Amino acid sequence: MKGEIAAKAPAAVEVEAGKSYWWCACGKSKRQPFCDGSHKGGPFVPLEYKAEKSGTVWFCACKQTGRVPLCDGTHNKL
Ligand code: FES
Ligand code: FES
Repeated sequence: MKGEIAAKAPAAVEVEAGKSYWWCACGKSKRQPFCDGSHKGGPFVPLEYKAEKSGTVWFCACKQTGRVPLCDGTHNKL
């Protein structure tokens, strides 16, 4: 089951090594690509992404990726 399409392009985020980020799986968050608690009452829960190294990460915002929580290009077919 996939979440709602929040955007048809990925979100580039500068992550810090060792830090955890909570990716929004449901697509309802107003703070894309991350969870803001809007999933409550629904079937989705956020997914933890732990950064192994610092740098730019392309998180999926369309929520249809096959490589959660990262963009795999699926948004191009929407
Ligand atoms: Fe979802 Fe690219 S933004 S696959
Ligand atoms: Fe989407 Fe929390 S708001 S998973």
